[in-house]
Amino acid sequence: MSEVHANIPPQGRVVMLSGASRGIGAAVAQRLHEEGYVLSLGVRRPAALDLPWLRDDARVLVCEYDACERAAAARWTAATLERFGRLDALVNNAGTLLPMPFASGDESALDTMWEVNVKAPLRLLRATLNALRASGRGRVVNIASTDGKRFRPTDSIGYTMTKHALMALTHAARFEGYADGVRATALCPGAVDTELIANLAGVTPRAERLQPDTVAQAVAFLLCLPNNAVVAELVLNTRLESML
Ligand SMILES: NC(=O)c1ccc[n+]([C@@H]2O[C@H](COP(=O)([O-])OP(=O)(O)OC[C@H]3O[C@@H](n4cnc5c(N)ncnc54)[C@H](OP(=O)(O)O)[C@@H]3O)[C@@H](O)[C@H]2O)c1
Repeated sequence: MSEVHANIPPQGRVVMLSGASRGIGAAVAQRLHEEGYVLSLGVRRPAALDLPWLRDDARVLVCEYDACERAAAARWTAATLERFGRLDALVNNAGTLLPMPFASGDESALDTMWEVNVKAPLRLLRATLNALRASGRGRVVNIASTDGKRFRPTDSIGYTMTKHALMALTHAARFEGYADGVRATALCPGAVDTELIANLAGVTPRAERLQPDTVAQAVAFLLCLPNNAVVAELVLNTRLESML
């Protein structure tokens, strides 16, 4: 098999991952580290980062990144490029879910979700796109949700709106980078067993939820595919739903 058609070896490939402190992001960080990727982890509180497998490691850079701060994306990207000199993938994982019922929901909750779930990934895409193009095999994985694919009456309308917008952003990113080998995927898990949904009514029962590492495996799968294996959306549902 020629090199362009083979899976891409992780060694030496640099990945920026937001929200690595816990939940899905922590699982993605661990799995990608085990596979040999070079990691730049964006977290709100670097000093509080508690990943048992992470020791002093030349393959990992930890940067302060708050999705609500406008300048954070450019600063984190610059720090990554300064340290490693290249960038091969961006995983937009940081996200937040605030309750927002249709009739009575508070707009400030929607504003926060727009900021973290949509505007921050856009800023990171803008900051990283040239470096991803230069890679020739740049990858973007946006952690969306099955809530980016449909609405259920029990859901937060604001969260669902922002995850639908993240789907749109992913498809826009596919067009921006395609000619230069950038491939973007919206990864859409159903319920995952993390704090995000720990106290939420109406979601898949805990015993049936996805484990964060299952989502991490999907991220690893997407990152290593060659340029001619294009996955625009990957839905990992925990339950049977029409069309999902
Ligand atoms: N759990 C699910 O059922 C599920 C299903 C589908 C999709 N998702 C998506 O998967 C992603 C990860 O969710 P999770 O389940 O792992 O949630 P989680 O356990 O609540 O973790 C959320 C992560 O996002 C970070 N974060 C939140 N606000 C941030 C901000 N302003 N700036 C920087 N980082 C911020 C958190 O950092 P701190 O530790 O600093 O708070 C944490 O690392 C989210 O995009 C979520 O929407 C989750």
